[in-house]
Amino acid sequence: SLTVSPDRAGPAIDRTMYGVFFEDINNAADGGLYAELVQNRSFEFSTVDNRSYTPLTGWQQTATGGATGTVQVVNDTERLNERNRNHLRLGLAGTGGAGAGFGVVNSGYGAGMALREGARYDFSVWARTDSATGTRLTAELRTTDGTTVSAPLAVTVRGDRWTKYTGTLTAKVSTTGGRLAVTAEGGGTVRLDMVSLFPRDTYKGRANGLRKDLAEKIAALKPGFVRFPGGCLVNTGSHQAYEAPDFERRRSYQWKDTIGPVEQRAVNANFWGYHQSYGLGYYEYFQFAEDVGAMPLPVVPALVTGCGENKATDDPALLRRHIQDTLDLIEFANGPVTSTWGRKRAEMGHPKPFGLTHLGVGNEENLPDQFFARFTEFRKAIKATYPDITVVSNSGPDDAGTTFDRAWQLNREARVDMVDEHYYNSPQWFLENNDRYDSYDRQGPKVFLGEYASRDNRFSNALSEAAFMTGLERNADIVKLASYAPLLADVRQNQWRPDMIWFDNQRSWGSTSYEVQKLFMNNTGDRVVPSRASTTPAISGPITGAVGLSTWATSAAYDDVRVTAADGSTLLAEDFSAGDFRWTRATGRGTWSVQDGAYVQSDAAAEDTLVTAGDTGWHDYDLRVKATKKSG
Ligand code: AHR
Repeated sequence: SLTVSPDRAGPAIDRTMYGVFFEDINNAADGGLYAELVQNRSFEFSTVDNRSYTPLTGWQQTATGGATGTVQVVNDTERLNERNRNHLRLGLAGTGGAGAGFGVVNSGYGAGMALREGARYDFSVWARTDSATGTRLTAELRTTDGTTVSAPLAVTVRGDRWTKYTGTLTAKVSTTGGRLAVTAEGGGTVRLDMVSLFPRDTYKGRANGLRKDLAEKIAALKPGFVRFPGGCLVNTGSHQAYEAPDFERRRSYQWKDTIGPVEQRAVNANFWGYHQSYGLGYYEYFQFAEDVGAMPLPVVPALVTGCGENKATDDPALLRRHIQDTLDLIEFANGPVTSTWGRKRAEMGHPKPFGLTHLGVGNEENLPDQFFARFTEFRKAIKATYPDITVVSNSGPDDAGTTFDRAWQLNREARVDMVDEHYYNSPQWFLENNDRYDSYDRQGPKVFLGEYASRDNRFSNALSEAAFMTGLERNADIVKLASYAPLLADVRQNQWRPDMIWFDNQRSWGSTSYEVQKLFMNNTGDRVVPSRASTTPAISGPITGAVGLSTWATSAAYDDVRVTAADGSTLLAEDFSAGDFRWTRATGRGTWSVQDGAYVQSDAAAEDTLVTAGDTGWHDYDLRVKATKKSG
């Protein structure tokens, strides 16, 4: 029986309680939320990002009317700018009849660009030519078989200095296999960079904007906050933006690299094994949070790695620089237009402050003491200048043991504002832990449940999350913020399951967990009505669902990956196919290390509960992971 006490005052529930966690994982940004249709627009793709890439990934040579020439990606002193190292050099042989063109075609992400009949697309390119009479450049939309499906857009490139050329293309047909062709006529050398195509119809019509269907799905949640840019991405950025890879930069996400004109932004070898353009950067994150009516919640690196690696950077000057970067970030968000960083925000189009109130420092560090020493320095500096900012610490991964307990002890002793917790567990766990926060110290730090999910996208997962969320809400005095994670996943390429919203290049759909989040976010109460159940209902029968094993290795690095149970039984095949392994994460315990740029679990043992094929009961398995590294 349930006893409800409407006359007693329960805790108030903040309007911002439920929000979203955005990380560029599963192609969430480029090829996902970021509406750019051209893949590898600045020819910066490299094997540093992913072993399968080349600087011409996404591009193919094309010629009309018998024209010939050469296509070459070069990195020389003629570059667009110091951050945009590579560009495309077209050597035009000048052969072919009148109107003959030689150039390149971009195939977009996945199967191609999703074009809609009648829709307009904004084309732009930076170009220069050594032809004294100029070079006529033509852009057009095509389909997979090479058919032209737009009127051609012609511009004349003049002069051997980088200049931006723009125009609009209108699609004559709808297709999911669209292409963008750029061809040049005549002779000489023409150089191209930042070849871009954006749908005119972005979310809220913003330039350099967001894919409408995805942004609208997020907006429909009515999120209280948007956390960005990750996740593991925060502490593990690995830039290849500069010719000589700079170790310090490779250690973490640098927000300053992600603002300003897109052609001047850095690019990044994303931790999740692909190229990241930073076209979706900090300005766009703040703008998006504002557009969906949510509180922005950035997370900055604390100079201690997590996510499979245990390293703390001992460099006082670097720490000081990162702390200053964080203060500058607050100024970028909130400062007046007369301040250095407030002016940059204004120059980008937003003179009004973004109203930052919360900021996270660090993500899932495995070294609680080292993390906390650095966090303390950040907090001191932030509070000295901005006493009203809530500085969010974290608890490391929820290993239900030493790291987590030690982190919480340090956070409690230092009376931090708020602690970020993360966990991915079975549906059963979520049902059994509804009371998790009932016993949290009311005098201690508040909780930001920054990442959680029950490990699959089935109805039973969503149901167990909903049940768990009633426990979060009941404890709204201590649990102040909560976000399911991750938010977005590309069906064609993903590193993590489950996810809240799935997409391909044309469609998107919410998982059952999305519907639960939407239900809670759209119906957040003002206050908890105290209630008591006479007993916790027994869970009858197993809650089934595919459960995976944690791995940080990428399929680009390994080509033979097998997971077997110690007793030799076959595990549910769906997520364990060799060469294409996409496992959801479990509470894998063991030692993770980096070998040749990939994360591997060296002791090869993890504990988890798995569902075997045809078996609906619960069992404990001892798992063995065997991964053979790709040759070369
Ligand atoms: O949400 C996916 C990953 O899970 C995040 O990057 C990390 O913080 C966590 O381990």
